[in-house]
Amino acid sequence: MELKSHMSDEFVRPLLEWYQINKRILPWRDQQNAYYTWVSEIMLQQTRVEAVKPYFIRFITELPDVRALADCPEEKLMKLWEGLGYYNRVRNMQEAARTVVAEYNGKLPESYEALLSLKGIGSYTAGAIASIAYGIPVPAVDGNVLRVLSRIRESREDIMKQSVRKNMEQMLLEIMPSDCPGDLNQAMMELGAVVCVPNGQPKCTECPVQKLCMAQLHGTTEEIPVKAPKKARRIEDRTVLVIQDGERTAIQKRPSRGLLAGLYELPNIKGCLTQEEALEKVKDMDLESLFIRELEPAKHIFSHIEWRMTGYLIRVSSLEPITNKKLIFADKKQSEMQYAIPSAFGAYVKYMKEEVK
Ligand code: ADE
Ligand code: SF4
Repeated sequence: MELKSHMSDEFVRPLLEWYQINKRILPWRDQQNAYYTWVSEIMLQQTRVEAVKPYFIRFITELPDVRALADCPEEKLMKLWEGLGYYNRVRNMQEAARTVVAEYNGKLPESYEALLSLKGIGSYTAGAIASIAYGIPVPAVDGNVLRVLSRIRESREDIMKQSVRKNMEQMLLEIMPSDCPGDLNQAMMELGAVVCVPNGQPKCTECPVQKLCMAQLHGTTEEIPVKAPKKARRIEDRTVLVIQDGERTAIQKRPSRGLLAGLYELPNIKGCLTQEEALEKVKDMDLESLFIRELEPAKHIFSHIEWRMTGYLIRVSSLEPITNKKLIFADKKQSEMQYAIPSAFGAYVKYMKEEVK
């Protein structure tokens, strides 16, 4: 109890007061809608708040509840997520939505453990939904919270370790206010996002808990948190083909498993092909090429792989009389409406033809 009352006076209360005054107005905030909390928290993993806003609004407009998400056709779902990356996040969300419809009558369960058992929901997301939407006093420890707490305690433990996260969750569980756990969790995330920032100097003079912050006291804020370096990404050369006749461009669906599963793409081949090799590939597709032009190189970074791309624009006589069943022929407008093409191809998608006619 000693710890609890001390922490409450020195940490919880100043933080909650600061949050009430300084919290950003966000479309999913203060809604008490577990589905909105869920969607926003999944989008916010790996994506900045500003970038998430328009995606969030569009998503909940098109899919206003768990049932709508469970029933959404794959193409439409991918289209709603197009550009956010990490597409398995939304696939898992749909699988979880189907479970919620089947087992909980379409309403996200009001229990931390039950939330945790759903596909794609880990301790952070379960904690966020439980505390923010349902007022259950459980912590939600994301990267922001790990950083803030490591600095306050001047801890040099590796924040990528599960044991460190578990430890912080345990400590927070003991000081969670029973009347507003969601506000405390969001206050810590918010502090991490706008004051105790990750890159460069934190804005300690604006911080409501600076009096008890050990890193600030010792001037070590920029050395903390400590993060074990990630494994280097595998670099892969790819050649991307923009194959078009006078009007349309060839695209194809990716396999249903693996990287960017089920999305659409410009035809592409592993390796860095020469013009001659690229033309050979086009011939293999039963297309007759008229000319070829090399496009600017591009790169795209995924979590574990980096693509270094060579691009060719290839004009063919006609895309029409073709025996190749894999290819789809679309103009830019059509692909914008219907086919989700990941940002990895962004540098070359811009060469697709505008709307026909
Ligand atoms: N980052 C992720 N979730 C957040 C939230 N609920 N509030 C502020 N920043 C966040
Ligand atoms: Fe972060 Fe500075 Fe506040 Fe410490 S005093 S928690 S380092 S912003």
